[in-house]
Order: sequence, then structure tokens, then C-alpha cells
Amino acid sequence: MKCILMNKNTEVLSCDFNEVSKFFDKIYEVYNIDYAPYILKSFYIDEDINDTPFRTNLSEWFKGRGIPSWRDKLDLLLLRLNVVAPSELLDKAFGLSLSDQYWLKPVGTDIKYEDINFFDNDFNYAEFMEASLSKNSKMIQNASSLKTPNNTTDGMLKKAWIIENGTRYLLKGGYKNETLQPFNEVLASEICKRLGFDHVEYTLDTYKDTVVSKCPCFITKDTELITCYQIRNDMKRHDSIEDYEEYIKKLESEGIKDVRTKIENMYILDFLIMNEDRHLNNFGIIRDVNTLKWVDVAPIFDNGQSLNIEYYDEEELHISSEGKLFYEVKPFDELIKVVKDIKRIDVSKLEGLPKWFDDLLHQYQNITGYSDTRINRLCILLNRQINKLKKLIENS
Ligand SMILES: Nc1ncnc2c1ncn2[C@@H]1O[C@H](COP(=O)(O)OP(=O)(O)O)[C@@H](O)[C@H]1O
Ligand SMILES: [Mg+2]
Repeated sequence: MKCILMNKNTEVLSCDFNEVSKFFDKIYEVYNIDYAPYILKSFYIDEDINDTPFRTNLSEWFKGRGIPSWRDKLDLLLLRLNVVAPSELLDKAFGLSLSDQYWLKPVGTDIKYEDINFFDNDFNYAEFMEASLSKNSKMIQNASSLKTPNNTTDGMLKKAWIIENGTRYLLKGGYKNETLQPFNEVLASEICKRLGFDHVEYTLDTYKDTVVSKCPCFITKDTELITCYQIRNDMKRHDSIEDYEEYIKKLESEGIKDVRTKIENMYILDFLIMNEDRHLNNFGIIRDVNTLKWVDVAPIFDNGQSLNIEYYDEEELHISSEGKLFYEVKPFDELIKVVKDIKRIDVSKLEGLPKWFDDLLHQYQNITGYSDTRINRLCILLNRQINKLKKLIENS
């Protein structure tokens, strides 16, 4: 299929998209490289766009928009959707997503972004939501259920975009039999609210027999999320604090304000909840897709892999968790050292937080089945981190 890769209403390039292999077989012309997905820019060499890594990376980027192979219960989801691979879903809705504005426009058609984007135009989410989040779902019945932004979500957790009163929300479940992720998301939001950190607001919801977290879309028709992974892709890797410092410099040079404070806030949160999963696709920046201006650091999102989630043992309290700082994995006591200005944190705002979390976990105990011991341990861990932060502030 001959088509044009679009960024909202801007033509990026013309190409042949192979609907069977889902690869880009040929690139005809690049119209506007600046509007291309950020990660592709560094592969662009003017003379020969087809024989350089540019075309391969275009295909890789597009494939990477799909549901990843490591999505929890992927086989079951594909069966319920009656498709063999996530790539089959990629171009069912022009490749559109709710995290950016890229899409494939077939040449010779008059399709308009305004008529197809998922920010303005509703989509049938009910069947996908059931297929993704319910324990007992039927096969989907309506082909329109495959024309949704659910074809283009990243991450390992079962998830689904839904619409409520016009707002697009992302629902996320737990991982395999673990159900703590949604509670950790809500705890993270409470901490961010109390400490005044920019964040995505997660609340709890129940879908059938499952507890899920629910957060509104933080992207609009005028913006896109560019993750740190994309930004760092063409920067030299040091495997040290240098990676972090260079990232801050890069964002500042693009005109984003308060970069260091905002990124420090993310690591303070990670320290408090012991988040082990701050990989480079779990944070980034927001860019204006019309002007290409870098608007802001993205609000803090995806905080579920926290509070010792992988090491819970009913018999003993193991504390063996480490956080991520760019390409390094570090104990949280080390990780927190990246925060230069810790005195600015008013830790008294966290007064009563373990009790608040204890109440929340007890409220849902009949669904989660968590023992009192587990709830108590989670609150002990949280309290321990708050006390550690207090000490750090006192000693700084
Ligand atoms: N509220 C949101 N608005 C827009 N895009 C989002 C939102 N939350 C997540 N995303 C996008 O979806 C991806 C997967 O979500 P994430 O919360 O990271 O899931 P997981 O826990 O499975 O990794 C993110 O990397 C981001 O690109
Ligand atoms: Mg994620």
C-alpha cells in the first residue's frame, strides 16, 4: 500500500507499506524529517534513504507501536481477538495511538486526521476491555472492536483504553497473579499530590472481578510523548551518572523549565515507594506536534512495580530491591544521592500516609485476599522509606 506517514496534519514521508509483513518496503520521498518520530531522525541521511538503516528503523519503530511480546497473557488476548500476532492489529486503525499523533494515510484517499483520531472520535472499547482484563471473556464479535487505540499500547501489564464522559482513561491490571500494581499507582499519586509533584492521577476501579488502576490520558491532540529511550538513543552511553546529567542538559537546551527539580521528584518518589521499574520508556517529555517545541517533562507515570512487589514472602520480610538510574541498577540508598536539593521536600506532608495506605488496602481486602500480615508489611516498608527520607533531609 502506498501511503504517507503523517504527524497529525504534517506529511513526513511517502512510502510503500507492506500489509502482510508490516514492513516498509520502500521510501519514496522524505518531506519533513523534523516531524518524524524522534527516534528516526538520527538515522536519517539525506542521500539514500532506502539503503541506510533509516528504512529498517522506520519498520522497527512502527512494529514497536504494537502490543509487545512480553504483555501479560498475550496468547489469551490474541485468541480472544482472533488474531495471530500483535502486528496484525498495527494498521487496523491507521496506526493511530493516544500517546502521539502519527498515522498512515493511504495515497489517493482524502482521509482527514480530524475524522479518525481517537482524541475526538469515539471507539468501541467494551470488547477489547473485556478481552484484556476479564478472566472469562468471549471471543470478540465486532470487527470495529479492533479499530481502537488499544492496538498501539506499550508495556507488560494487561490494559485497555476506555471513554467515560468524553475523557479517555487507561485501565491497567496487575501482572499474572499479583494485584498490587494498581494500589501502588494510587499510593504514588497520593505521594505526588502531597509533595506537589507533577503526576498522572491514578485512581482505583474494579472491572468485574479485578481491581484496576485508572488514569486519564495526559496527551492531547497537540502533543506527543517522547520517552527518554528515544531521546537518549543517539547519545553516547556512559553507564554512569553522566547519562542522567546529559539528559537533563538536553532537556534544558530544548527550553524545558525546572528540568532537574522535576526529574529529582521522580527519583524521590521512586525512593519512597521503592519503584524498581523506572526504565527509559517509563519517563520522558511532551512535545508540541504543531510547533515541535519541547513543552515539559512528562508527568510521572507507571509506578506499579514497587514496595518489594517481586519479593513478598508470607514467612519473612525480605527487602532486596533496587531502583533504576538510566542504565544502572542501584540500591535505593544510592539512587537517592542524585537528588541535589532534598531540603526543599516538606516531609511532614507525608504524615499519616502509611495509615492511609493501610486503610485503602483493608478496604479492598475482600477482593485482593491480602493477609493482614502482607498489608502490615507493605505499610512497614513505606514507613521505613519515609523515615529514611526524613533522616536524609535532616542530615543534608
Ligand atoms: N495516561 C496516559 N496517557 C497517554 N499515554 C500513556 C498514559 N499512560 C501510559 N501511556 C503510554 O502507554 C505506555 C504503557 O503504559 P504504562 O503505564 O507504562 O504500562 P506498563 O505498566 O504496562 O508498562 C506508556 O509507556 C506510555 O507510552
Ligand atoms: Mg511502562
